[in-house]
Amino acid sequence: MSSVFKDAIANYLAPIKDLLADPGVSEIMINGPHEIFVERKGLVIKVQHKFSDEEALQAAMRAIAQSVGRIIDSNNPQLDARLPDGSRIAVVLPPMAKAGTSVAIRKFSEEKLGLKDLINFGSVSADGARFLDCMMFLGKNTLVSGGTGSGKTTMLNILGSRIPKTQRLLVIEDSSELQIKAEHVVSFEARMGSEERGIKPVSIRDLMRSALRMRPDRIIVGEVRGEEALDLLQAMGTGHDGSMGTVHANGPAEACTRLETLCLMGETKIPPDAIREMVGSALSLIVQCNRYSDGGRRTSSISEVLGVDTDGRYIVKDIFRWVQRGKDPDTGKFIGEMVPCGYVPTFFEEIVVNKLPFPKSKFMPPEWAIPLIKKAA
Ligand SMILES: Nc1ncnc2c1ncn2[C@@H]1O[C@H](COP(=O)(O)OP(=O)(O)O)[C@@H](O)[C@H]1O
Ligand SMILES: [Mg+2]
Repeated sequence: MSSVFKDAIANYLAPIKDLLADPGVSEIMINGPHEIFVERKGLVIKVQHKFSDEEALQAAMRAIAQSVGRIIDSNNPQLDARLPDGSRIAVVLPPMAKAGTSVAIRKFSEEKLGLKDLINFGSVSADGARFLDCMMFLGKNTLVSGGTGSGKTTMLNILGSRIPKTQRLLVIEDSSELQIKAEHVVSFEARMGSEERGIKPVSIRDLMRSALRMRPDRIIVGEVRGEEALDLLQAMGTGHDGSMGTVHANGPAEACTRLETLCLMGETKIPPDAIREMVGSALSLIVQCNRYSDGGRRTSSISEVLGVDTDGRYIVKDIFRWVQRGKDPDTGKFIGEMVPCGYVPTFFEEIVVNKLPFPKSKFMPPEWAIPLIKKAA
């Protein structure tokens, strides 16, 4: 982006300049010119910052749209774009937005979290992390599931960076967020179309098709939210073991159902029952992310997908689960940890054969955790 655009945007966004610069702020939410909230450490709080009026706020959004070759006006009242620093911005103009121009900025952070950080935060246990490492080595097809802002992209990024160096990764995203640290990565980004400019859209599905012809070992789809789900599923079932993606779901079984629903969105001739079977057999692992009410983001479970039962229900077994033991009376933060659930995954033999450092005993929960695991199930 040219510096003219950068300067213009910086000028227009001057009222929230310090929020943009503050690394402790992960999200900025603008509900009309006079009401701004931010997210700090997972909690959303109101701040005193304001734009002078609706016109100033809209002018800022026009400048941002312009910088990415797009238009925001009464005919095009919505915008999804990225700021010069890589932050993601979503805008809706009035009258659709009732209280005035509404904006959400997801800040881009240079400092991507690593597996060590997640262990330090207590989001995963050291054993849970080691287990995930083993899964990436073995090339288990993995779905990262969770709600908005629960840490899915962060988790996918971390998992992708643990894939063995010999593998060629093809990464496909709507807007580039992943920064997978690996030796051999090819990244694709989808493009929105624009009729008035004669720009054709290029969808995730289009890119998926090309990716499959480019000798991928593993395919990684940033966010699976359309009919590309079927392509990913087929890739998983046809030799691209260790492919991954994220879906929006509140639990591991729901993640399977979600993937199934997405597969049926396209004009497929495959009957729903067959798709369910495909989901059940192609997926091995679900990593569930969760944003808890104390603001903490944690991996709430790591589960194995075993298939579909005779009633058409997914068979999903938790291998690890985060359990809460209490609450810190001063900070209100939950006290707890990730524990094994006493279930030995079916692919344990592969761990043994490959001499991976993960003994069977690590799947057994500590005595104190047994009632908590039962309660959480
Ligand atoms: N385990 C975690 N602990 C603390 N913060 C996290 C954790 N995982 C993610 N985050 C932060 O939460 C925010 C949202 O994460 P992201 O991975 O983008 O969520 P999603 O993809 O589910 O919307 C980011 O600022 C990220 O750095
Ligand atoms: Mg995400």
